[in-house]
Amino acid sequence: MSVLTAGAAHPATPALAPSGGVRVIGWGAAVPEHRVTNHDLTRHLDTSDEWIVERSGIRERRWAGPGESTGHLAVAACRAALDRAGTRPDQLDAVLLATTTPDHPVPSTAAEVAAALGTTAGAFDINAACAGFVYGLTVAAGLMTAGVARTVLVAGADVITSILDKGDRQTAVLFGDGAGAVVLAAGDPAETGDPGETGAGPTVAGPPGLVACDLAGDPGGVDLLVVPAGGSARPASAETVAAGEHHLRMDGREVFRRAVRAVEASIERTLARAGCSPEDVALFVPHQANARIVEAVLARTGLDPARTLSTIDRYGNTSASSIPIALSEAADAGTVAPGDLVLMSGFGAGLTVGTALWRWGTLTPAGGDDV
Ligand code: ACO
Repeated sequence: MSVLTAGAAHPATPALAPSGGVRVIGWGAAVPEHRVTNHDLTRHLDTSDEWIVERSGIRERRWAGPGESTGHLAVAACRAALDRAGTRPDQLDAVLLATTTPDHPVPSTAAEVAAALGTTAGAFDINAACAGFVYGLTVAAGLMTAGVARTVLVAGADVITSILDKGDRQTAVLFGDGAGAVVLAAGDPAETGDPGETGAGPTVAGPPGLVACDLAGDPGGVDLLVVPAGGSARPASAETVAAGEHHLRMDGREVFRRAVRAVEASIERTLARAGCSPEDVALFVPHQANARIVEAVLARTGLDPARTLSTIDRYGNTSASSIPIALSEAADAGTVAPGDLVLMSGFGAGLTVGTALWRWGTLTPAGGDDV
């Protein structure tokens, strides 16, 4: 089911962005200090560095220590993004946090992050598992297009180790913890359609912001990634804890199979809606779940491996934070330039899939200097 359709809109049609476009004016990421290598895992799991690298591309990951919750990491990433943007917390209109491992059932972790930052902005969590950051970007673009918000903080953060059975070799080797965030700002309407920003990669003219997107589900996969207990359907009890039902259970092989097909289809729908081809994409930022999933998606879509970000060897699958962490690193490295088309695609429990084609722009909302 596709819930947001841009139709066959011309790339310059501002259907998914306010008239002045939306710019990413700040970005940041945070990961725990504690580094866990594949060799470290072999001390308590029947696995090997060779198996993990060959099957997933992962060499190490970061695991949270005491006090390093989802909210803690999110605040660090958000502060870095706000600093980079030169934006004060009191200038924010909304705080969106994509997470599947909130600090508490109540309140939302977004509300706790907003409180820690010192903003009265409306704050809420989005749970779309590993696709959450793309869903967050899409919701933020909608709020901005509707005129509800002009400056929005969108973060993806997860401490997946809080629901991980570290004794289960099928899941324990794959996941890591982290957070990433961006600050979005609505542009000056006078800059509508300004095609003057050209990046290093292929560029299709138009204002910065969301060009096209696709949010979809695969209901047949709803039972493939589940934490059985701890929610209203099966509240936590001594019995559920004893049975390990507070841990993530996954049918990895079936998730793999469905993810490749779902991500391929979602990318094709998004590019078709934008009127773009894979060659127009300057940077592809896939969810970092498994290097082999990304390779399969590249082979099926024709996207360029040389323009595809990969952080999986260093961080593993960090769930909702994997895309904003990779994006932050690319922005820090200057890999993405104003005018570039950035394609982000994530999938996760649900199964959910989400793809966003975003035209990068980093001018200040007032139309000032490049940052
Ligand atoms: N070390 C060594 N052997 C292992 C390990 C391990 N860590 N894990 C499983 N094996 C064994 C299995 O027991 C099996 O042995 P058998 O042949 O004797 O039965 C063998 O390796 C092959 O197992 P498969 O599951 O078929 O291995 P596969 O090649 O499919 O790789 C993997 C497994 C890495 C989990 C892969 O299926 C995958 O990445 N799936 C996608 C998972 C994913 O992306 N999940 C996150 C979604 S995002 C979110 O919402 C959280």
